Amino acid sequence: MLKHPIIVDLEKRKTSKKYDPSKRVPPEKMEILYDSLRLTASSINSQPWKFIVIESRSAKQRLAKTFSRKNPHNKKHVFDGSHVILFAHNPKYSIYDYAKVVDADIANGRGVIEDRDKYLAKFSFAELKTDLSGNNAEWTKAQVYIALGNALHTLARLDVDGTAMEGIDPELISQEFEDELAGYVCEVALAVGYHHPEGTNAKLPKSRLAKEDIIQVL
Ligand SMILES: Cc1cc2nc3c(=O)[nH]c(=O)nc-3n(C[C@H](O)[C@H](O)[C@H](O)COP(=O)(O)O)c2cc1C
Repeated sequence: MLKHPIIVDLEKRKTSKKYDPSKRVPPEKMEILYDSLRLTASSINSQPWKFIVIESRSAKQRLAKTFSRKNPHNKKHVFDGSHVILFAHNPKYSIYDYAKVVDADIANGRGVIEDRDKYLAKFSFAELKTDLSGNNAEWTKAQVYIALGNALHTLARLDVDGTAMEGIDPELISQEFEDELAGYVCEVALAVGYHHPEGTNAKLPKSRLAKEDIIQVL
């Protein structure tokens, strides 16, 4: 039976463990990746994220410094990969942040200014996820992972390789990119580029638990 193109994409994609440093992802493909990040769905359309793209040599040097304490195995992707994207979430997403979303919805024709307060009331859902100090990082971080999943599939479709990396140092990244992050927190990043044929993962088959073990249809 002919495989569906979505399954072909998902079976084809593999985490790169080594990149070919001579290859760079063309800007038009990066733009598609940025569009897919922007179009990611999130709870109450909150979009509590920022994506910081590490492209220039100087930005890569700054990121490389953050690998001084841990995860040295991921450091090589900074220079050998084409780009690294820092996925950052707002740990204190507020009604003021949500007001920006509501105003964009109105500007984009999804609502009318007369009902602005009614739309803002949907923030009560975020309040349920927020502690007394205003922290709702657990909820906002979950939204960022939806963007990560979206990005991994987009890369597969573009024939570009990627490495999701929780093996980073959020504390050092917060220090090094303090200005750019402006209070947001990066706990996961994505290296993108083209794999080196000698990378350990390049020749291994895909391996997942059996469908019967993880899916229960009632
Ligand atoms: C959230 C997340 C974090 C990951 N962190 C790392 C990492 O720090 N370094 C690494 O080499 N791979 C990392 N991986 C890659 C996984 O090990 C890989 O996706 C998994 O083994 C399945 O292999 P596949 O992506 O080739 O299908 C991460 C993957 C995800 C989704």
